[in-house]
Amino acid sequence: QRSTTVQTLSALKQEKKKFSCLTSYDATFAHIISEAGIESILVGDSLGNVLQGHDTTLPVTVEDLAYHTAAVARGNEHALIITDLPFMGYATPEQAMDNATQVMRAGAHVVKVEGGTWLCPTIAMLTERGIPVCAHLGLTPQSVNTLGGFKVQGRSPEQAQAIIADAKAIEAAGAGILVLECVPSELAKTITEQLTIPVIGIGAGSDTDGQVLVLHDMLGLNPRPAKFVKNFMAASGGSIQDAIALYGEEVKSGAFPGPEHGFK
Ligand code: KIV
Ligand code: NA
Repeated sequence: QRSTTVQTLSALKQEKKKFSCLTSYDATFAHIISEAGIESILVGDSLGNVLQGHDTTLPVTVEDLAYHTAAVARGNEHALIITDLPFMGYATPEQAMDNATQVMRAGAHVVKVEGGTWLCPTIAMLTERGIPVCAHLGLTPQSVNTLGGFKVQGRSPEQAQAIIADAKAIEAAGAGILVLECVPSELAKTITEQLTIPVIGIGAGSDTDGQVLVLHDMLGLNPRPAKFVKNFMAASGGSIQDAIALYGEEVKSGAFPGPEHGFK
């Protein structure tokens, strides 16, 4: 099996085939996820929550992300490795280039940044210099303090139009992938249809091109899971390997997410 690239995900979108992504922060899980045929691994700054025990992703540093990316890269076989840039790690294009360099050297294939139109010059600079960019819109957890909490985004027509405009802008700037988090399913559908680049959803309904979940959530380890999480450990009734394989199958078939996992 050849390694997955941004182009692989674009081709899957064109063929209307769904693909899956899971977070991982270490070599053992990266190996299991990759062996299960999950197309992409996200080294998310959610590691601040699930590994470090913080309430938000704000304390996570580029050193943390590079350390976990290097571990994931050692265990990975075929998956596309996307690594978050940290809070305030891309406030200027220069900071973005320095921090992206660190995580790319650690083994990332793509860097992810939270934001829309304001990030367009940064996205263009990184892409032109050989670093593919995944943008992240909707609920952007690094902005929890300006958003006033972890809330569904894009519920009003004005907010929805702003997210659509941001999505078009980041695509035009050269972003290769978009993550949409916690937006109404209808809005995610509209954006997925209007963009050429692959859109990965989390709490964004079943009509995005791909799906992502936090590994610990889908293994049933989070005592207070969000509405969009499914416990695949319970659903598979078997091993961690079985739970991850079932997730991949259900995303591919469209069985996950169901309407109960989305927002109106
Ligand atoms: O850090 C993370 O795990 C993420 C996903 C929830 C999209 O950004
Ligand atoms: Na993140």
